[in-house]
Amino acid sequence: MEPEMRFEQVDGPRSRQCKQCKLSLDVAGETVGRAEINDLTMRLASAWVRMGGIANVVVQSQHRGKGYASRLMREAVSYMEREGYAVSILFGIPDFYHRFGYVPVTSEYNVSVAVRDTERLSATTTVREAQQEDHAGLLDLYTRANARRSGAVRRTRVFYAALADEVWWGHPTRILVAGETGHPTGYMLLEGDPASLSVMDVIVPAEHVATAGASLIAWLGQEALARRRERLRLPVPPDEPLVGLLRGIGCKVETTYPANYGGMGRIVDLAALATAIKPAIADRIQTLPVEARPGRVELDCPDTGQAHLEFGSGSLLTIRLPQQQLLQLLMGYRGIDELWREHGGDDAGDLAAIRALFPAGYPHMWELDHF
Ligand SMILES: CC(C)(COP(=O)(O)OP(=O)(O)OC[C@H]1O[C@@H](n2cnc3c(N)ncnc32)[C@H](O)[C@@H]1OP(=O)(O)O)[C@@H](O)C(=O)NCCC(=O)NCCS
Repeated sequence: MEPEMRFEQVDGPRSRQCKQCKLSLDVAGETVGRAEINDLTMRLASAWVRMGGIANVVVQSQHRGKGYASRLMREAVSYMEREGYAVSILFGIPDFYHRFGYVPVTSEYNVSVAVRDTERLSATTTVREAQQEDHAGLLDLYTRANARRSGAVRRTRVFYAALADEVWWGHPTRILVAGETGHPTGYMLLEGDPASLSVMDVIVPAEHVATAGASLIAWLGQEALARRRERLRLPVPPDEPLVGLLRGIGCKVETTYPANYGGMGRIVDLAALATAIKPAIADRIQTLPVEARPGRVELDCPDTGQAHLEFGSGSLLTIRLPQQQLLQLLMGYRGIDELWREHGGDDAGDLAAIRALFPAGYPHMWELDHF
């Protein structure tokens, strides 16, 4: 009997404030496999783009190996194409999702500090539990601090309220803030279980690192000392201003680049992506010397198609890469030089201009936003 695909629109989790499309694959009235697409908005090349967050891809164990997950994934990508999504992201098992055009686009970061070294910091700001009045300020801190962070998901004020209501493993999530009520200057969000001391979000803008940042880390150091911990672990990208402070007191910074698993993405609709990032790229072009400013950028994926971004007078800048590597470049996951060595053709093009417009960085989706 032919498997039948069903699509159902539902509301996503309250903290995410998004719609969700549930895909079910039925055979003879029985659901044999499922997947979900979360309708989210994500930072990419400093712009906001529509992103389909794929989650909960599962096939019943007795029906595995029959191509059902492949059918679900192909249908999910076609659905996102029809609906005008620019890109899709998922957190994948090893060596599976490359079949559907996905490639790693975010790394895993681990910054660790010896607890005794946190005593080198002076806590000048009081650290306290967040109140409801802080939620707007927390959202503002998160949004400002991640304005240029590819991979960061758009949050709403409800996000913090919903987390405060949520209970994980019997312990409510803790949000610790520095600054006066209603005017937080930095915050740290810990998983519910205090014994695990697991930090999920640390948001401190550059201007508050010396005050709020130092106080939050000193507070965490005290807590770790009481729990007989030797090291603090923070899941923060190495270019966060807070890591600059930690370098001053001694720290270890690890970045893991997964071969074919973890935070992976693909371009869904190149034209929609080009339209979404165009204003942000126009701003970047303005930072180049006049003679180096392109008037037109052509994104050329030999396997998927082309898109053009028009900026006025100036030369043509062509970026010719497979879909997967183009997304790695636009996300800042890899730089043009290494990508060109592996995937470029004979004509190296204007690498200096591409390097300036699409610099390599540290894309990141904070753990609380994973799906
Ligand atoms: C992973 C899972 C969804 C695959 O479902 P499935 O219907 O058996 O997959 P398919 O039959 O469509 O297999 C497609 C291809 O993937 C390969 N594959 C299947 N399971 C795989 C796995 N766990 N890891 C890597 N490759 C796998 C198959 O060999 C096949 O390869 P081919 O195209 O080269 O022949 C299923 O095993 C499952 O539900 N696992 C538990 C839940 C899970 O881990 N989900 C993924 C969360 S990110």
